[in-house]
Amino acid sequence: MDRRPERRSWIVGNWKMHGLRASLAAVVEIDRAAQACGEVDVALALPFTLIHAAAQAVSHIAIGGQNCHTQPQGAYTGDISAAMLHDSGADCVILGHSERRLDCGETDEIVRDKLHTALSSGLTVILCLGEHLAEREAGLAEDKVRQQLTHALTGLTPSPDLARHLAIAYEPIWAIGTGLVPEAPAIAAMHGAIRQSLAQALGPSARTIRLLYGGSVDEGNAPAILRLADVDGALVGNASLDSARFAAIIQAAQDIRDA
Ligand code: 13P
Repeated sequence: MDRRPERRSWIVGNWKMHGLRASLAAVVEIDRAAQACGEVDVALALPFTLIHAAAQAVSHIAIGGQNCHTQPQGAYTGDISAAMLHDSGADCVILGHSERRLDCGETDEIVRDKLHTALSSGLTVILCLGEHLAEREAGLAEDKVRQQLTHALTGLTPSPDLARHLAIAYEPIWAIGTGLVPEAPAIAAMHGAIRQSLAQALGPSARTIRLLYGGSVDEGNAPAILRLADVDGALVGNASLDSARFAAIIQAAQDIRDA
């Protein structure tokens, strides 16, 4: 099988609104697990309050945020800029997560503006895309995801540097936190469609952009999901909060590389 050597595996944990300072012990355990899996890149997207301390505590994983503002700075009470994330030690940021699109009214245009600002601030962006269950049942899942992607990429100049700083996470909304996961062929088909759209929008450099699957990934289903064509990694919510479970997912990615 083609192991796509130009794209290393990437396992990213999204802690969402979980974690107090006591949870830094779990961050350090995850850092240790990552050290033992040298073929896999690992990141943890943490609440703002943990980013600086976590970045100082780890050596083998990247630390990320889960959102940033569209503007580089300004009178936006309670918001966080991409530059602030970077300054706190974050290397990456999740943008366009469905929880923010749905709970905070983030439109495709807002997500695009955030993407541009984050990239300009030196962050790597994990751009989340995904359809509602009704859209999948109506056969509209690919259209929805392609539309989200096209909007987000508008105005970006293709380059190898952009490709290095962009990853896409396909997260079907109905699979997040539900224990439901699409059938393997559906994941592979969507990742193939995203890869094709990326190539159309960004040309040959799109080949190196990593595509992650997210939505009820756990230590049991990770090996099968991570083996699928065009799945370069996973974006993990619930199972990333437990260092042993998350370590097992990292190990699954390493085992596939070793096979
Ligand atoms: P779960 O892994 O808890 O389904 O969450 C997925 C997710 O939203 C990651 O961003």
